[in-house]
Amino acid sequence: MLSIAVFGSGAGSNFMAILTAIQQGNLPAARISLVLSNNSGAGILGIARANGLPAIHLSRKQFPDERSFADTVLSMLRDHGANFIALAGYMKQVPPEVVAAYRKRIVNIHPALLPRFGGAGMYGLRVHEAVLASGETTSGATVHYVDEEYDNGPVVLQQTVPVLPGDTPASLAARVLAAEHQIYPAAIGRIAQSERAAEHHHN
Ligand code: GRF
Repeated sequence: MLSIAVFGSGAGSNFMAILTAIQQGNLPAARISLVLSNNSGAGILGIARANGLPAIHLSRKQFPDERSFADTVLSMLRDHGANFIALAGYMKQVPPEVVAAYRKRIVNIHPALLPRFGGAGMYGLRVHEAVLASGETTSGATVHYVDEEYDNGPVVLQQTVPVLPGDTPASLAARVLAAEHQIYPAAIGRIAQSERAAEHHHN
């Protein structure tokens, strides 16, 4: 069973897509163990609360140093039995201690076709502005494993969308977001299935 801790900073539409897939029985080998946000007013915390899930506001700003923040995140994850982390619109870097403790157990969704249009500073509308400025006629969304760098780990799943004449960053963002909502649950489903296959193999 994938017991997923979701980290987010915003509206939480990707989290909602994953939760809906679970609630509809499409992700039997996955559950949400907690939702964590650096933003106390984030929509993602409201969605968690509305669904009876642990919704935790935790920000680096509340701590004297990076290490005490990382230790608190790790203890929260362990207290809730999380064995996997999904970043869903999370605007902060995951502490390296957490990346190390969850090596190859953290994924992220990025609103472009990595490795292009990724890296530090490439988030939100800036991504789509860069895609439009590049003259690309195709964009899309990427689910990838997270390592110590931004947007850098191996790709799990991608989906392309067309860039249309007259697109604005907002219209392209909306088209890409719809693709995100399709591939994030699908990517988690694949990882959960491969887990189960591995467990059966071991038993
Ligand atoms: C969106 O820009 C999305 O492309 C990216 O994070 C932002 C917020 O997503 N993944 P969400 O609605 O909070 O999931």
